[in-house]
Formats: sequence, C-alpha cells, structure tokens
Amino acid sequence: MHFGAHKISPIGKASSNRITEAAGFSLRLLTALLLMRLAWRRFMGRNRTEHSYETQLYGRLLQKQEEERLCIAREIHDNYNQRLATVAISLEELSDSLSDSCTDAKEKLHELFNRISELGADMHILSHTLHSSTLENLGLAPGIRAFCAEFTEQQNLQVDFFQDDVPAVTSQDQALCLFRVVQEALKNVKKHSDADRAEVRLERSGGELHLQVVDRGKGFDLKAHAPGRGIGIRSMQERLHLFGGELEVHSKPRVGTRIDAWLPIQSAPNEVTLYRLKPMPSM
Ligand SMILES: Nc1ncnc2c1ncn2[C@@H]1O[C@H](COP(=O)(O)OP(=O)(O)O)[C@@H](O)[C@H]1O
Ligand SMILES: [Mg+2]
Repeated sequence: MHFGAHKISPIGKASSNRITEAAGFSLRLLTALLLMRLAWRRFMGRNRTEHSYETQLYGRLLQKQEEERLCIAREIHDNYNQRLATVAISLEELSDSLSDSCTDAKEKLHELFNRISELGADMHILSHTLHSSTLENLGLAPGIRAFCAEFTEQQNLQVDFFQDDVPAVTSQDQALCLFRVVQEALKNVKKHSDADRAEVRLERSGGELHLQVVDRGKGFDLKAHAPGRGIGIRSMQERLHLFGGELEVHSKPRVGTRIDAWLPIQSAPNEVTLYRLKPMPSM
C-alpha cells in the first residue's frame, strides 16, 4: 500500500455514541481549547520545557476524562442495566399471567420486552466503549482484540487484529493510551473512509510498541486537510506524547489511510501519567 506520508509535527519530542459525547461536554471543551493552545505554541516554535505546564494540564484533563468514563461505565453496568433487566423480567411475568386469549396485549408486551432488551444491549456496548474490563483485567493485546471484535459486530466494518511479540504486561497507562488511539482511529475509519474493512496491527519493535491502523478507503489529501482541523488526530498525538510516544499519519486519496503510533515500552513517563500525577509547577 503506497501512501503519502505526513509526520505530525510533534510537540517536544519531534512533538460513541451521542450519549458518550454528551457526557463530560465541558471537559472536552477544555481539552479542545488546550489542544489548540498546544498546537499554537508549537506553531510559535516554543520548546519542550515551555510546554511542560500545558502538557501536565492536558494529562490532568485526560485523567479526569478517564475517571468520568469509568464512573459512567460502572453506573450503567451496576445500576441502569440491572434496572432494565428487572423491567424486562416483570414484563415477561405479566405476559405469562395473562390468559392465552389476550393475544393483542401479549404481543404488545413482547414488543416492549424486545425494545427493553435492545436498550439493555446498547447500554452494555456504551459501558464497554467507556471502559474496557478486558483491557483492565487481561491486558493490552486481549483488550484491543476484544474491542476490534466488538467494533466489527456493531459498526458493520470488518476489523482484523494482528499482534506479534506484544509483552504480556504493559503499564495500565500505556495500555489505555494505545487502546484510546485504536478507538479514535477506527472511529475515523468508520466516519470518513467509506472502507468496509480495516486492519489493526500491534507489535514490539525494539524497545517500542508499534501500532498501525490501516484502511484502504477514500483517504485524504494531507496538505489540503491539515490534520488538526478536528481534534481526533491531535488528541491521539498528545496522548502518545504524554508517554514519550509519536504519531504518524499517512494518507493518499483513493488509496487509503494508515496511522502509525510508537510508544516506548516501560519508559519512564514524561512529566505526568494518567494515574500518578506529579504536582503542577508553580505558574
Ligand atoms: N481513515 C480516514 N479516512 C479518510 N479521512 C480521514 C481518516 N482519518 C482522518 N481523516 C480526515 O482527517 C480529518 C481530521 O480527523 P480528526 O482529527 O479525527 O477530526 P474529525 O474526525 O473530528 O473530523 C477528518 O476530518 C478527515 O477529513
Ligand atoms: Mg475523528
């Protein structure tokens, strides 16, 4: 596959759903503003140490977002889904208690039961998108594999996952970082590419993890559509940067798009990690 390549000018180092989007709107607004500020400072040629305050702030916003996601995912799973299940059972019991002659009422109850079940399934998907228990419990490669399988099932897009020599244990922060990059990249494939399949590859390359998300869809002109107009690509880049990683975007109209992400394995995190924050420098 031949793509035009575009290395996103890095900072420092060389630098789901409607409900999900509604939740935490203010946080995302803040994040978007901060991403714009980071991009502006890069444009103005500030060096890495001058970015440390923004970088830490961005790390804190991501941490808040992740905490919020976890909280909403738990609430959906432990509270709303359970309540929906109880309603579904009551509908079934009600239907069973009616005599066979009440066919209309039984049909109506059956329809309601199906709608409630569908709603429950959607809530389950939403909760998984916000927080992957497979990622948390089984680790990076199983977490991404499970997500690709779910995406294939739910989004009408065949996603094939390949892995090679991925360490069984990576830090939770790094795993979450790459997981969110995969989510964002596949969201872009679905939203922009018109492709009907995509590949996700994860492998160890020397001391780094190398992630690729490839589609052979309509692609885009990197010069005409400078990445960064939306915040998806920019946020992938900043997320990786927090852990000393890098992002490259390759794309060519009518050929497809490939994103490459590199993350040093077990590198000491830069200034900040999502779960263990250092104090903010004085302003
Ligand atoms: N896989 C893809 N196929 C085609 N175009 C893409 C793909 N990924 C990104 N793009 C292009 O890059 C732009 C920026 O993407 P992004 O930063 O995620 O913002 P958004 O998705 O909000 O538009 C998109 O608007 C689209 O034009
Ligand atoms: Mg996007």
